[in-house]
Amino acid sequence: MTTKPGEYKGTGDYIASADLQNIVNVAVALGRPLLIKGEPGTGKTLLAKSIADSLGLQLIIWNIKSTTKAQEGLYVYDTVQRLYDSQFGGCDVADIKQYIKLGKLGEAFAADKPVVLLIDEIDKADLEFPNDLLWELDIMNFYIPETKETIAAQNRPIVIITSNAEKELPDAFLRRCIFHYIEFPDKAMMRQIIAVHHPDLDQILLGQALEMFYTLRALNDLQKRPSTSELLDWVQALALGGVKPDKIATAIPLLGVLIKKDQDFATVLDQLHQKGSGDKAPTPYGVHNR
Ligand SMILES: Nc1ncnc2c1ncn2[C@@H]1O[C@H](COP(=O)(O)OP(=O)(O)OP(=O)(O)O)[C@@H](O)[C@H]1O
Ligand SMILES: [Mg+2]
Repeated sequence: MTTKPGEYKGTGDYIASADLQNIVNVAVALGRPLLIKGEPGTGKTLLAKSIADSLGLQLIIWNIKSTTKAQEGLYVYDTVQRLYDSQFGGCDVADIKQYIKLGKLGEAFAADKPVVLLIDEIDKADLEFPNDLLWELDIMNFYIPETKETIAAQNRPIVIITSNAEKELPDAFLRRCIFHYIEFPDKAMMRQIIAVHHPDLDQILLGQALEMFYTLRALNDLQKRPSTSELLDWVQALALGGVKPDKIATAIPLLGVLIKKDQDFATVLDQLHQKGSGDKAPTPYGVHNR
């Protein structure tokens, strides 16, 4: 079956649920930014790459830090370089255009073809950041007073915004976005995700690893539950370490690949010992890997 141009259906290296595929296509059709939330490691960042690959579009990534300002996404006027050139010569400093550097949003607007713009981890920036972007994301253009130029999107970019919900986003911003929460994958979907990354994995080993992984995730009081990316690392480590599948039922080999917080080690051993009976209870095998 071939994918119609412009319709997102996931990619060979990214498993997208039917809901996720639908919402991507709705956001593209409506020309609205798609805001993606979900636990760490649930494929939020990778989604944008998958959309770009699937639709054959360039991907522009804007990684947001706590210090990022909205203006940097539009353009930066390099006054320091201009001052330097005015003192030491070499360039025509009257030509201000050469000191204007477009930011990621500016690049996306100026592109001559539609692009996918990923604004990754928007919640890292301060609260003003999303509000400051509202206007430009709405009207898809901005004005550069220094050069008296307007940068207008020739093609509306597909804007994917991710958030780990560290901060609540302003209502006015949310109103303009389409929202999707990536649910943590169930076992069947997780098998597909693992198959993408490790197609040759022993299926019995994988079955046991999945059982233990979902048991760990269901434990109460974990400060940081292991996520997809940790499971991917763990199954690879188990395979590389030649761990026998039956070991996983009675112990948790290489636990440090899954569990990253000191307190969680204790919680895991405590709760699994309580759950297990007699000598079937998991032992702290692998805990020395801390
Ligand atoms: N649906 C999926 N299909 C294929 N691989 C996936 C999928 N979901 C997660 N992964 C894998 O899990 C890892 C984490 O993915 P990604 O970095 O996109 O997660 P994230 O949600 O952005 O995490 P964070 O919140 O920590 O930034 C990657 O190695 C990715 O390949
Ligand atoms: Mg991410």
